[in-house]
Amino acid sequence: MTLQEFISGMPKAENHIHQDGATSPESALYLAERHGMTLPFSTPEEAAQRFQYRNLGDFIRMIDATNAVIQDEEDIAYLVTELGRDAATQNIRYREVMLSCDFHERTGISLDAQMRGFIQGREAAKTQFGVEFACIPELDRTSPPERNLSLVNRLEPWRKDANIVAVGLDSAEAGYPAHRHKEAFRRARELGYYLTAHAGEAYGPVSIWDSLDEAGCGRIDHGVRAVEDPELVNRLDHIFLTVCPLSNLALKVFPDMEHHSIKQLMDAGVPVSINSDDPPFFCGDLNENYEAVVRTFRLAKPELHALAKSAFTNSYAPQTMVNGWIQELDDYFSENDFIL
Ligand code: HPA
Ligand code: ZN
Repeated sequence: MTLQEFISGMPKAENHIHQDGATSPESALYLAERHGMTLPFSTPEEAAQRFQYRNLGDFIRMIDATNAVIQDEEDIAYLVTELGRDAATQNIRYREVMLSCDFHERTGISLDAQMRGFIQGREAAKTQFGVEFACIPELDRTSPPERNLSLVNRLEPWRKDANIVAVGLDSAEAGYPAHRHKEAFRRARELGYYLTAHAGEAYGPVSIWDSLDEAGCGRIDHGVRAVEDPELVNRLDHIFLTVCPLSNLALKVFPDMEHHSIKQLMDAGVPVSINSDDPPFFCGDLNENYEAVVRTFRLAKPELHALAKSAFTNSYAPQTMVNGWIQELDDYFSENDFIL
């Protein structure tokens, strides 16, 4: 079969996708109409033209303007259900979904309403599409530290039903170091959540060191600029990076895929997985991210197998579930082949 067919049929896990970053232009237009609001675009074609960025800041302005149409619990339930439908289409078995709790609170959706919406969507994803979701509430780097601490303290009642596994950190990286939110991370760790942070994307290695050593994170989202510091690459031998190749190109972290650091990281033994981040905003779903990497670096079948496996084994899912998915993945690789 072709590479595209092989990747499409391959059972997959995704460790890094944002609930609000997965809003398709069609869904945003639907919600805008429902709430009588306007968007920066009036058709999906116009959205595709507007989704061009010079940097992370440009992107954050666009995603925030688009997601202003998400107004209530029902909207979140609808979008999370759509995320389940999309996962099934791509043969994604398990997704770690990042939730922009602070953003939604700023636009007037209480944390409780967000969580009720997420839980409803998660259950629909499971029952209608057979897809498992975990939830990673994201702290906003630019928010006041006490606001993030308060958010961490309010998650507990929702932990089980939303399947909250970790606390993350995102938004503008330069000028907003992870250590500002040390208290929130300390509290999250105390409550037993895993800790992860977007770092080494719009800012360099120092931001990754800070997330590991000051904030105490055990995983890094992106992390692709680690290659600028060989000592850091050594430090990452047991730190999982959730790499989002097409996102990095869209935000000009690298000029093109040939210059992307993922192969260098793989060759150095750093555990990585491939992810889509905010698919409609970066014009690439999970399958397309895999395909771009495999084609550019002419990855051999065992390298693709290792990448796909890594997304399961390094995930926050329970071992028994991981074992089942790995069995399915191994069977797929022994029964199928692709030609590049
Ligand atoms: N970086 C920082 N914040 C984000 C991103 C990202 O890639 N995607 C959504 N929020
Ligand atoms: Zn992200």
